[in-house]
Amino acid sequence: MIISPSVLSANFADLKTDIKKIEEGGASWLHYDVMDGHFVPNISFGYSILSDVRKVTDLFLDVHLMISDPNKYLDDFIKAGADLITFHYESYDNLDQIKTVITKIKDQGIKAGISIKPNTSVEAIRPLLSDLDLVLVMSVEPGFGGQSFMLNAVDKIKILRNWIDQDKIQCLIEVDGGINEETGKQCQAAGADVLVAGSYIFKHENTKKAIESLK
Ligand code: DX5
Ligand code: ZN
Repeated sequence: MIISPSVLSANFADLKTDIKKIEEGGASWLHYDVMDGHFVPNISFGYSILSDVRKVTDLFLDVHLMISDPNKYLDDFIKAGADLITFHYESYDNLDQIKTVITKIKDQGIKAGISIKPNTSVEAIRPLLSDLDLVLVMSVEPGFGGQSFMLNAVDKIKILRNWIDQDKIQCLIEVDGGINEETGKQCQAAGADVLVAGSYIFKHENTKKAIESLK
């Protein structure tokens, strides 16, 4: 299991210390939540902080764009050091626009992912699976850390696992929102490859133990 701690719940006045803690705790990815106050009702951080993060870590930078027009900012996030850019299915009106953005990301040599909100069905993204490196199933409404896990994510993971295995597609399944030891196990059993966890990891008194409990 790949663990991707979400720095949305880190201490931004001492971010370097928190990044070292997750590195020492055995995480291999870092989840970076970008919110624009428009696609979601919250504002987080942009690409300039990502380039500072890139300077202090070799962790795989898993960028989750919760913004209205991701295409507009792709180059900035890629230049800042993203290893994977995941954007939302709901950011665009049609699959052609989405495919253009996926191609643009992959053409620059990094990985591309699509995320679906809790009310979006997995069927919507089935035609995109073979183009994707990752699908991100949201298990909370995007926008805030610390919310409770929504159970419908488990069924979505199971369906995706079946499709991906049947068609022998190279696409990881990631789940994000309300992940802790218990919900993480449910997602693992359903077939998830990557667990994102923010508040569970950063509010735990022992970062290493928190990460190990999810693996
Ligand atoms: C929510 C973000 C998540 C968030 C998860 O919109 O996409 O990555 O940080 O936080 P927890 O793990 O606290 O639910
Ligand atoms: Zn996220």
